[in-house]
Amino acid sequence: MERVVTVPGAPWCAAVAGRWLELLDARPVARLCLATGSTPLPVYARIAEAHGALGAASVLLLDEFGDLPADEPESCDRVLRRSLIDPAGVADYRSISVGTPDLDGECRAVDGWIDTGPGGCLDLAVLGLGVNGHVGMNEPGSPVDGRTARVELAASTIASAQRYFEGRARPTWGVTVGLGDLLAAREVWVLATGRDKATIVARCFESPATAEVPASLLQDHPNCTWWLDKPSAGLT
Ligand code: PGA
Repeated sequence: MERVVTVPGAPWCAAVAGRWLELLDARPVARLCLATGSTPLPVYARIAEAHGALGAASVLLLDEFGDLPADEPESCDRVLRRSLIDPAGVADYRSISVGTPDLDGECRAVDGWIDTGPGGCLDLAVLGLGVNGHVGMNEPGSPVDGRTARVELAASTIASAQRYFEGRARPTWGVTVGLGDLLAAREVWVLATGRDKATIVARCFESPATAEVPASLLQDHPNCTWWLDKPSAGLT
């Protein structure tokens, strides 16, 4: 069952962060899988301000771009460290090493990180939403039971990522936690803001649950919340 929370304007990130802090209060040792991209950043800023809220949590990076220069400041790892991990003082953080020669071994190690949690699953996955319905880098047509893997990016994702890299890099692949683990998480949040997301948000609810629109698969998740501002909900 999905729950949709629509919040206008600036209070959006306060509402999301407020609920997150309540969850952490109830379960401080949570195992979290966190997206980067631009959407969650104002939420992360609020969580980081609540010093110590993530002190007992374990955090797994959701995905990472391949073929970035080593010093690229907009890698998913750098963005998450800068926006949340470092300011919030997260001690237990697992990024994804896409530059390793044994990429398959790295993917299996990320799976192992997930498997060693209580119940062998993530407590909370905080996801952004691609304009093609991807979650993480699970593009349309991804296997619904997929685990961590190297994936090729869709053309729309490659184009959209240019916002982050401003010509310094043009990644065409990445490594992502798979749909199998995201759909198996105890709780899933999808964060979407802005009019650019309104069409895909509507499609995620109106289309049948299908791997062709990966986020639509969350229709069948028992504890999924969509956190939408008014433009992404199609209300303005
Ligand atoms: P965005 O990216 O938050 O920067 O819009 C979301 C995504 O493509 O997954």
